[in-house]
Amino acid sequence: MRLAAIVLTTGVALVALLPARSWAAKNVPVVYQPCIICHGDMGQGNREVHAPALAGQSEAYLARQLVHFKSGVRGADTGDTLGAQMRTMAMPLSAEDMTALAAYLAALPPPAPKIELSALKGADIKKGSNLYRGHCGACHGSQAEGNPALNAPGLAWLDVAYMARQYRNFQQGLRGRHPDDTYGRQMQAIASNPLTEQDLNNVIAYMRTLATE
Ligand code: HEC
Ligand code: HEC
Repeated sequence: MRLAAIVLTTGVALVALLPARSWAAKNVPVVYQPCIICHGDMGQGNREVHAPALAGQSEAYLARQLVHFKSGVRGADTGDTLGAQMRTMAMPLSAEDMTALAAYLAALPPPAPKIELSALKGADIKKGSNLYRGHCGACHGSQAEGNPALNAPGLAWLDVAYMARQYRNFQQGLRGRHPDDTYGRQMQAIASNPLTEQDLNNVIAYMRTLATE
């Protein structure tokens, strides 16, 4: 533990105990510090709090999501409780903050995907592969690495429960239905011809095998 004393101009001394790991030493910008508790110090995400990995997504995708959370294009549907949590975090951000956050996170390497045997259990990987190649790969990339030119985020390293939830959010119109959500509406159109639960599992399991190659 490290003792840091911040002396305010009023002369009041605030003494805070900070953990030994100094964010400043890792060049974590001040504006990202409130995000660490959910998204991790390397933007790796934290499934315990349903927060996805942010590292490695394109700058434009990240900036767009932040702008959308703040303006209510994403996360404002009353059924979207986790989106609402993230909206609260985006509210105080200025345009400059969002630009800086997106640039910082896009430059971090995507987290190494976890091999999740539970996600693969009972899945038909071959069927998942066919479905992915036929219905997803054209936009999200042959290795699910994302394609910034088509505004499609990387999926290979995302948490399986997060992906399934987003897919269902698109399907049910909790995400991607807002008239200003140009790219969300593209994904919404795809999900409105929904995969069955089993096929969604198959596709996600297939993506996990890509990630571990
Ligand atoms: C209280 C926990 C929490 C905090 C703190 C938090 N987030 Fe989030 N964030 C979430 C959750 C949960 C989601 C997923 C919402 C959903 O399921 O739609 C999310 C989603 C996101 C997304 C969308 C990712 C994607 O793949 O579409 C971005 C970008 C993001 N957060 C950035 C930030 C930034 C930047 C901060 C700090 C200013 C921050 N978050 C702070 C919980 C949090
Ligand atoms: C026409 C192009 C296109 C196709 C085909 C497509 N997507 Fe998407 N997808 C997108 C775009 C664009 C976004 C980002 C929307 C936004 O900006 O909010 C997206 C977002 C997503 C997300 C949310 C990721 C995140 O970080 O929140 C998931 C999950 C997803 N797609 C899964 C799939 C799956 C599974 C398939 C195949 C069944 C598929 N997509 C097919 C274009 C596509």
